[in-house]
Amino acid sequence: MTNWRSAARSRPDGEGVLDRVLDVVPGSATDKPALYSSLKMAVQVVTDGERDPIANMANAAALIWQYLPDLNWAGFYRLIGDELVLGPFQGKAACIRIALGRGVCGTAAATREVQCVADVHAFPGHIACDTASVSEVVVPLVYEGRLLGVLDLDSPRPARFDEEDVAGLTAVCAVLAPALAH
Ligand code: SME
Repeated sequence: MTNWRSAARSRPDGEGVLDRVLDVVPGSATDKPALYSSLKMAVQVVTDGERDPIANMANAAALIWQYLPDLNWAGFYRLIGDELVLGPFQGKAACIRIALGRGVCGTAAATREVQCVADVHAFPGHIACDTASVSEVVVPLVYEGRLLGVLDLDSPRPARFDEEDVAGLTAVCAVLAPALAH
């Protein structure tokens, strides 16, 4: 049995929690707060007790891809030195290195502010990795004042992301960041 499965099962109702968060088949996204609450719990379950940041990013990207509809790319860029470097993701192969301040990801990293872009074609300097992308949200990952990287989600739908997505993803990143800090 893997580490996180043991950890989840040792909690009160661990078995039930595990089944609920990992075997979920998300329906419509009309109740976004509930969807993000489940996603946050799932991220907590799979990262619990695991210190490897790449493994934790990989599982988080898989869960985001599983839970959230209408995405064509979901994944991470890690801050290495003074640039962002591609991390674990779901979707098509993407550009590998992004300078701070460049594109949507580099802007989120440089400002440490969420970038929620309704139409990427209207964003100055947007970097087109997948031509299917129309809207995008990028959330900085900060732990104890240190920028670790960014979470980047792309959608083929215009204005796919709203305030509820930003709030939900910010909460997910808050529980994930400590699991990426080693
Ligand atoms: N569009 C991003 C680049 C990363 S891909 O979307 C995966 C940007 O402008 O920074």
